Amino acid sequence: ASAAPVARERTYIMIKPDGVQRGLVGEIIARFERKGYKMAAMKLVKPSTEHMEEHYADLKDKKFFPGLIKYMTSGPVVAMVWVGDGVVAGGRVLLGATKPSESAPGTIRGDLCIDVGRNVCHGSDAVESAEKEIAHWFPEGVAEWTSHSESWVYE
Ligand code: PPS
Repeated sequence: ASAAPVARERTYIMIKPDGVQRGLVGEIIARFERKGYKMAAMKLVKPSTEHMEEHYADLKDKKFFPGLIKYMTSGPVVAMVWVGDGVVAGGRVLLGATKPSESAPGTIRGDLCIDVGRNVCHGSDAVESAEKEIAHWFPEGVAEWTSHSESWVYE
C-alpha cells in the first residue's frame, strides 16, 4: 500500500510472427493491460536466425528446433517487457498451455490458435530466464516509468 515505486517482477512476452501476421497484437496486449500488468518496453523486430537460436538455445537438440527457428524468423515479432507482482507465472496463465490442444478457453492460446508450431506468443518460464531474455532482446535497457493506475491495481 506504499506510494513509493516498488521493484516488481518482470517478464519477457513475445508475439510470434503468426500473431503479428494475423493482426492479434492489439488483442494480446489488451489482455495484459486489462489484467493490470504494466508495459515496460515494446518493439517490433525482425530477428536474425542467430538471435533466435540464442533465445531458444535450451531447445537446440529438439527435433522441432529447425522448424521452430524457421517459423520464428519468418516475419517480425513484437518483443515486450511486462511488470507486476507474480507476472512471470501470471503472464503464462494469460497465455495458456504451450500446446493449444491443452490450453483452456479464455486464455490467449486457448482462444486464438490450434497448432503448437503456430502458438502466437511466448512467455518466460521463470524469473531467471525472464531476466536473461529481457537482456537478450533489450540490450539497450528498459525505461523506468510510473504508472498512475498502480494504487488501483495493488492494495
Ligand atoms: S519441451 O520439448 O518440453 O522442452 O518443449 P516445450 O517446453 O513444450 O516448448 C518449448 C518451446 O518450443 C515450442 N515447441 C514447438 N515448436 C514447434 N513445433 C513443435 N512441435 C513444438 N513443441 C514445442 C513451444 O511453443 C515452446 O515455445 P515458447 O516460445 O517457449 O512458448
